[in-house]
Amino acid sequence: MLPKLSNQIQIYTLFLTVVLFGCQLQPNLQQQRSKQGMAVSAHPLATEAGLAVLQQGGNAVDAAAATALAISVVEPFSAGIGGGGFLLLRRAETGTVQALDFRERAPKRATRDMYLDKQGKVRPRASLDGHLAAGIPGTVAGLYTVHREYGKLPWAAVVAPAIALAENGFPVSSRFTKAIEGRQDTIEKNPAARQVFTKGGILYQPGELLVQRDLAGTLRKIATDPQSFYTGDIARAIASDMAKNGGLITLEDLKNYTPIWRNPVCGNFRTYEICAMSPPSSGGVHLLQILNILGDTDLKRLGRQSPDTLHLLAESMRIAYADRAEYLGDPDFVTVPVKALTSRNYGKLRRSQIDISKAKPSIEVKAVDTQTLNRFVYESPETTHLTVVDKERNVVSLTFTVNGGFGAGAVAAGTGILLNNEMDDFAAAPGVPNLFGLVGGEANSIAPGKTPLSSMTPIIVTENGKFRLAAGAPGGSTIITTMLQIILNVLVYDMNVSEAVSAPRIHHQWLPDRLMVEKGGFDAATLEELRRRGHVIREGEGWGNANAIVLTSDGWLEGAADRRGEGVAKGF
Ligand code: DON
Repeated sequence: MLPKLSNQIQIYTLFLTVVLFGCQLQPNLQQQRSKQGMAVSAHPLATEAGLAVLQQGGNAVDAAAATALAISVVEPFSAGIGGGGFLLLRRAETGTVQALDFRERAPKRATRDMYLDKQGKVRPRASLDGHLAAGIPGTVAGLYTVHREYGKLPWAAVVAPAIALAENGFPVSSRFTKAIEGRQDTIEKNPAARQVFTKGGILYQPGELLVQRDLAGTLRKIATDPQSFYTGDIARAIASDMAKNGGLITLEDLKNYTPIWRNPVCGNFRTYEICAMSPPSSGGVHLLQILNILGDTDLKRLGRQSPDTLHLLAESMRIAYADRAEYLGDPDFVTVPVKALTSRNYGKLRRSQIDISKAKPSIEVKAVDTQTLNRFVYESPETTHLTVVDKERNVVSLTFTVNGGFGAGAVAAGTGILLNNEMDDFAAAPGVPNLFGLVGGEANSIAPGKTPLSSMTPIIVTENGKFRLAAGAPGGSTIITTMLQIILNVLVYDMNVSEAVSAPRIHHQWLPDRLMVEKGGFDAATLEELRRRGHVIREGEGWGNANAIVLTSDGWLEGAADRRGEGVAKGF
């Protein structure tokens, strides 16, 4: 099961340099405060789209769909209609959190060994570049599904801002230029992507206007008939482009795509109920697992950046990611022991295995065997909960993606749709690390129709039945630990939302066996003490580009985007 370390470090380093680009420390922490409504996203124009929809009388679902579609235009390198994701919705009317899985699925013709050569070795970049890397996109179906059920404004009204941005163009940012630099070689090889994202091979520079005519046309069709993405003109264009370029997605795959309503994973932490995305994301399970391992440790007394706290966090993360590699996969294909992994007593068992004075090498940390894990399955769930709602607040927390920067680096010709490379989130072979250095085995092997395992972790937190915090982040494998730290920052360390999303972070993911710390975020003595306890420290630029909204005790919405990115929060 253990991958070759050199191979893994190589891929992980690539991930750090290619995917986590552009997360610079910026000194100004901005936070918005409002009463009526608020949108926050990774791009000012997408936030504007969401805000405009709210101001037109739309609800959180309308605004979330508008923001997501606008992001698809202005940040095509991060997420889009050629990708997929997860959405959490808390409706004020019911007070419950629902989860929508609109993640990509493996095409019917996908096979377990599709990325291996004749010797059984993974073909480098086969799951990352070009049409073969793409899973069946779910974004349009997902956004339409949630909108049809819970949106207030007409569907066309929520698609309109994205159409305008694609048609009229928008000035590209330095993040855009950096992202394309990282994938230029792949994009150059696909004429359709080259045409859309470069000026005949020359890169757009910050401030230059990018117009996406084909995408505008596609969005217009989606505005009048979202199903055209799956059975109409758009579907035919995607399928024919796939056939010409060695991709596997067929008309039948597109026709059969359906988003899935799932129960989120929810658990208690102190006085809060935390709901997060359930499998096929690993996010919610391991977020709750780590919170259970931390248990009632007095983290406030230990201090937010003390060696003891950081060591405890790192060791808890290490354990969770060891279990992830063994047990997590698509719940429609494998049995995922969600209850056991998120049970309080299992957290206690794992806590007892942590030595506070010494880091345990990852090679000695294993997923527990099934028999041990099964002992925790029947723990009664924490469901005694009182709900008091004093003001209506619908909440959407949505994370979606095309996976790596610019996805597969290929556009379905004539559609402007950038294809995802989500197939890389499967374990191409047991123990072989993916783009994020994550390893997996049987539970996350490739099969037709199966969903690749994700780390995306949109969360919604309530206290005594009242909305308290919603947040999410990109960052592949680091998403879960980013969300953990934001939760602790707000709920334990009483930071305001802007400080909470922007505070320096650490990350451990079992393999590779190293503790990532954000450069400049921790003092030298603390790092030295962590080294003394046995941690192999690696300093990196910031990662995560998170954003969050909290509801304050006096009824204000406060929102902030990460200082590491260019996003903003806007309210009215
Ligand atoms: O689903 C996942 O876990 C990944 N495909 C997410 C990719 C991601 O966050 C890229 N961001 N830096």
